[in-house]
Amino acid sequence: MAQFLWPSERQRGCATASRPIWTRIWQPLSPGAVGWEENPDRTPLDLKALFGDKPVWLETGFGGGEHMVHQAATYPEIGIIGCEPYINGVAMLLGKIRDAGCENVAVHPGDVRDLFDVLPPRKHRQSFLLYPDPWPKKRHHRRRFVTPEYLEPFHKVLKPGAEFRVATDIPDYVRQTLEEVPRAGFEWLGECADDWRTPWDDWISTRYEQKALREGRTPHYLTFRRI
Ligand SMILES: C[S@@+](CC[C@H](N)C(=O)[O-])C[C@H]1O[C@@H](n2cnc3c(N)ncnc32)[C@H](O)[C@@H]1O
Repeated sequence: MAQFLWPSERQRGCATASRPIWTRIWQPLSPGAVGWEENPDRTPLDLKALFGDKPVWLETGFGGGEHMVHQAATYPEIGIIGCEPYINGVAMLLGKIRDAGCENVAVHPGDVRDLFDVLPPRKHRQSFLLYPDPWPKKRHHRRRFVTPEYLEPFHKVLKPGAEFRVATDIPDYVRQTLEEVPRAGFEWLGECADDWRTPWDDWISTRYEQKALREGRTPHYLTFRRI
């Protein structure tokens, strides 16, 4: 049986044995230089070197990574970059990638805002924001993803026409999403009042959604198109 190699191991043909353990585990999935220390000039990532001519997707805050790996395995013809600062989540993702044998995933184990700096403009064709941190207190609402601080750079990296999917179990997050996302240059694709109840055809329930369901909260699924 052929040995499984991460995508960048294949590209670089690199020997991994001498690298520190965490670097050895995660580095082969790196999308390139994202952090300020390694990329102070904020040079854009080379997506072509990463995924060739594949359309590139983005998942913010992938948690345990089940949805991202599901998408990568369902659509081997795309490349997907995920970011997640929660290090246990990144560790869980790595096992899932190995199990699924996906070769089209890259990971930034940190804040999406650092990634926005170095993603080339107007490239991403699809993006997912699934059960983002709710920040329930009113004074913390400005920390939510659906605020100009995140949405402006996010809009820049998406290709016109790109789809943006949001899932949340928090009604006030739905309210803010429906107010702020169109203001940032997206149109909501909901066609009828009940649209938000139906998950996407290629949906797989995430860990956080399972928790929400166990605790009696209702999922909302919102789809936008980048104008
Ligand atoms: C409520 S969890 C949902 C995880 C997963 N999407 C799911 O549905 O199970 C929200 C995730 O967003 C991540 N997150 C929060 N702020 C982030 C940021 N600025 N950049 C990237 N991820 C972030 C958190 O670490 C957390 O894992």
